[in-house]
Amino acid sequence: MIVLGIESTAHTFGVGIVDDSKKRANKVLANVKDSYTTKKGGMIPSKAADHHAEICGKVLRGALEKAGQAKGKEELDMKDVDVIAYSQSPGIGHCLRIGAMAARSLAVKHNKPIVGVNHCIAHLEIGRLVTKAKNPVLLYLSGANTQVIAYEGKKYRIFGETLDMGIGNFLDSFARDLGLGFPGGPVVEKMAKKVKGSDKYVELPYSVKGMDMNFGGMLTNLKQKIKSGKFKKEDLCFSVQETAFAMMVEVAERALAHCDKSELLLGGGVACNKRLQEMCDKMCKARGAKMYVPANEFLVDNAGMIAWLGLLQHKAGDKLKIEKADIKPYIRTDEIEVKWRKD
Ligand code: ATP
Ligand code: FE2
Repeated sequence: MIVLGIESTAHTFGVGIVDDSKKRANKVLANVKDSYTTKKGGMIPSKAADHHAEICGKVLRGALEKAGQAKGKEELDMKDVDVIAYSQSPGIGHCLRIGAMAARSLAVKHNKPIVGVNHCIAHLEIGRLVTKAKNPVLLYLSGANTQVIAYEGKKYRIFGETLDMGIGNFLDSFARDLGLGFPGGPVVEKMAKKVKGSDKYVELPYSVKGMDMNFGGMLTNLKQKIKSGKFKKEDLCFSVQETAFAMMVEVAERALAHCDKSELLLGGGVACNKRLQEMCDKMCKARGAKMYVPANEFLVDNAGMIAWLGLLQHKAGDKLKIEKADIKPYIRTDEIEVKWRKD
């Protein structure tokens, strides 16, 4: 079965195409995207939506070409696609609407079934596909999202999350204050690498409550430190990573223990960070668990994951009438009925 998926929850508009035929080792035939960016990193929802509307045709053609090449042809024909999937939740309304529109148009024009999927669960399911993790706790660290999600009692439940901003947005704000540009995460990582020796660590507020966390206090404290001019940029970058990532590791470890699971899966753009991966790996090894990290392409927002979850849902009998193919910007993962898992 071949499924075409559309991602459009926030900055990224993507089209992914997956094929689950047994003989195919790499199930993702195409994973093409184009992201809306601004110099300062802020986002006006209507502008991001304009971007998505503008480039959706180009991204779609790119994905059909890529998928065709993976099958040894020039381009995949829409008649070879069995199902259209799209990110239905959660996300920014303006952006979601463009993806849903594109999906409905394709479904109607080519007479295909349509399926709406949850973006956060898609991160987890693509991680399971590409890493072979079986029943992991997902540490999902992106711009807007910071959550610990695991499958329990037939639902994907959020065991812990940020109480204010997402860790990526926090790193981006800090980097902006420090004059490092956008996106901040990768630059902070580079700067932090320059620091050798933990004696350069600058104490910062650490805030974990059970399995929830927040970053507002640390950001305010950092703003004061930057203003004082007393600290070296790289020392602050190093200390931010050590503190914020330790918070993530603590929460992930508590979730593993609470859910009695032995696999930790990373997801989201911030999980591209090598220091974060190293800290998570250490924690997992210490408790006899295993860490799984998908390739960066599947860590960040992508449409391959939407197509894959769409395929799982369709095969489990998920049917969506075209007039019901709307958007659900605020739905939470535990409101989704998980029909595709048998365990
Ligand atoms: P979502 O809507 O799912 O929250 P998003 O579009 O904000 O998604 P992603 O593409 O998953 O998110 O991640 C973007 C974030 O990842 C940015 O905040 C960026 O600074 C951060 N990031 C990217 N690479 C690194 C890195 N190496 N270290 C730390 N943070 C990183
Ligand atoms: Fe995401």
